[in-house]
Amino acid sequence: MLSNVVANQEIHAQYGGVVPELASRAHQQNIVPVVQQALQKANIVKKDLSAIAFTKGPGLMGSLLVGTSFSKSLAQALQIPLIGVNHMQAHILAHFIDDTTHSVPPFPFLCLTISGGHTEIVKITNFFKMEILGKTLDDAVGEAYDKSAKILGLRYPGGPLIDQHAKEGNPLAFKFTKPKVGALDFSFSGLKTAILYFIQREVKQNPNFVKENLNDICASIQHTIVSILMEKIQNAVKQTSIKHVAIAGGVSANSEIRKRLKESEKTMGWKTYIPKFEYTTDNAAMIGIVGYYKYLERSFDANTTTATARLKVDE
Ligand code: KG4
Ligand code: ZN
Repeated sequence: MLSNVVANQEIHAQYGGVVPELASRAHQQNIVPVVQQALQKANIVKKDLSAIAFTKGPGLMGSLLVGTSFSKSLAQALQIPLIGVNHMQAHILAHFIDDTTHSVPPFPFLCLTISGGHTEIVKITNFFKMEILGKTLDDAVGEAYDKSAKILGLRYPGGPLIDQHAKEGNPLAFKFTKPKVGALDFSFSGLKTAILYFIQREVKQNPNFVKENLNDICASIQHTIVSILMEKIQNAVKQTSIKHVAIAGGVSANSEIRKRLKESEKTMGWKTYIPKFEYTTDNAAMIGIVGYYKYLERSFDANTTTATARLKVDE
């Protein structure tokens, strides 16, 4: 991995969430300088490239189109292959970047893929054979974090902020009920509503409730969410007898899930795989690694390929 340049979009913070139109405009503004910077950092020039990998989906159509059109043009101009990459596969295969310094999961393994748009337990049989064993019926876990944060008046994205406050709080201070869904399925919309009603009720009695209890509230929310995640992985291990367990996606940056998963090596006898911090939230390296494996297989896309907003992990 020669360079991994990420342009963050600060613009969304003031709106409390990603605004699709602003996201695609920011992509348009950033794409040329980001590619230039990546080449510079890698100390190579365009004609050293052997292929162009890009995100084909899933994601916001406007943003996907910027990347797709740009990559098509670049590949055509340089007369090199074009490789469409599935964003969710990329989160999972990020475990294979830096494979000389980082322990990589052996096939088959289970991966809890948790991001702002997805919450899935995936069985990975080889680089491109992936099967979803369970998923969320409504909100993604990242969404649950971001929406809870919004209720508490924290800025977007709220996941990292809740994580920070949680470290200073009591995880058992407040109790939220867990959803009743299938053994490998998730549901977070009820939790969000429970938190909203709880805060409204408490604030009516004490207007300073959130300010005075922020750390305990965050710790309790985090404890509830991470306990649900751990329970589900446990069910998946039981069902599949696969004891190699990985996490991936933006929420895998969370300190509590990282800690609890690590502990399970001792308590459950699992072997766990936790991605390097810089490969958890969306990044270019994860798209590059899938591009690399597809390149080895000569799995290329035609120049007529299109972006797909809804792409499953096994597509
Ligand atoms: O994978 P990602 O960068 O983008 C998507 O593909 O959705 O994930 C972003 C999500 C956001 O919801 C953000 O709040 C959450 O990951 N996130 C976290 C943490 N860091 C990022 N959630 C909890 N704890 C964190 N430390
Ligand atoms: Zn992502």
